[in-house]
Amino acid sequence: MIRINPHFQKLQASYLFSNIAQRVAAYQQANPDKPLIKMGIGDVTEPLPEVCRTAMKEAVDEMGTRDGFHGYGPEQGYAFLREAIAENEYQSRGCDIGADEIFVSDGSKCDSGNIQEIFGTDISVAVPDPVYPVYVDTNVMAGRTGRFVDGRFEGLTYLEATPDNGYTPELPEQPVDLIYLCFPNNPTGAVATKEQLQRWVDYARQHHAIILFDAAYQAFIQDDALPHSIFEIEGAKQCAIEFRSFSKNAGFTGTRCAFTVVPKDLVAYDPENNEVPVRQLWSRRHSTKFNGVSYPVQRAAAAIYSQAGKQQVQDLVQGYMANARQIRETMIELGYDCVGGDHAPYVWIRTGGNSWDFFDRLLNEAGVVCTPGAGFGKCGEGHIRLSAFNSAVKTGEALQRIREVLSR
Ligand code: MLT
Repeated sequence: MIRINPHFQKLQASYLFSNIAQRVAAYQQANPDKPLIKMGIGDVTEPLPEVCRTAMKEAVDEMGTRDGFHGYGPEQGYAFLREAIAENEYQSRGCDIGADEIFVSDGSKCDSGNIQEIFGTDISVAVPDPVYPVYVDTNVMAGRTGRFVDGRFEGLTYLEATPDNGYTPELPEQPVDLIYLCFPNNPTGAVATKEQLQRWVDYARQHHAIILFDAAYQAFIQDDALPHSIFEIEGAKQCAIEFRSFSKNAGFTGTRCAFTVVPKDLVAYDPENNEVPVRQLWSRRHSTKFNGVSYPVQRAAAAIYSQAGKQQVQDLVQGYMANARQIRETMIELGYDCVGGDHAPYVWIRTGGNSWDFFDRLLNEAGVVCTPGAGFGKCGEGHIRLSAFNSAVKTGEALQRIREVLSR
């Protein structure tokens, strides 16, 4: 008899953003004349940079010629893109990362979800709380956790980010093998300093652990003294994997392109405690289960590294950051404590009370969609997240509506 993977039954009923989408759809059906403003899911709104569109169109035309046609590409990505990434994202910031350590993919959600496959099912895993749900759910699916009890999965170590620690988690009290970190953080928008990341790297090296560093929002960092990459930290090449994306900085959420950096120096251990290069495992996994990002999309991604491309991406980022500042200032004026919004496109707002109730209030009374903090974990309760991914006009209108509702 065919059996299901029983670990799927431990998952919460639906993925956070699907749950929100259902409530939003119900509201829209009941209120067809009330226009909604979405500040929930972190989906970009502004058009693709011109350099990307031009590069993509040219690549499509190339594909229409006998000489320029491309069939299956290298699963790890074309050399032109991997080299541009290595040079512009890493070598330019003093990080010794080579093109052969970069794996181009169709998204950081997929990569940060899939990477756990290459590690043992009996390892101990630490995740932040609040957390991007993908890190948790993929480990649940793989059978690394027990049941969901009182808002948490048994067997996972939760690294609490609370008002008391400035939303930056402390090192775990008991040793763990795999550590998920995300800076600038989703959902809180908090950032980590070099000193803070150095403590994580030292911890990971001491415990032969690996850090999975999600840096999908690094382009929003406004202070150059803050690290954009974990590989700016000494020793990180021996203990970290980094996820990066073109989604948020260059507007690729619908176009799909991202990359993961797995350094050559990084090892994990087989059952006999022999060292195994992690890059080799990820390469094997990637080439077995993935057939590469399309040629026109990789050309579009590479275009952001031209001079004009860098400027166009900066313009997009600065537009969203102006929204973020406005959100943060308005919510502070309304009397709420906030983090994020200064180096991240998310503002994490301490509302107190039940965050789904606050979500419903903003939806029903202001016609604004936020993300309830409880959807990101136990420590998310009493908070909501507002996303700056919108036009300036809509952000302004949403804040006006929020102000009216919350000042009542
Ligand atoms: C979010 O809203 O947290 C992000 O959009 C999720 C994602 O990028 O997958």
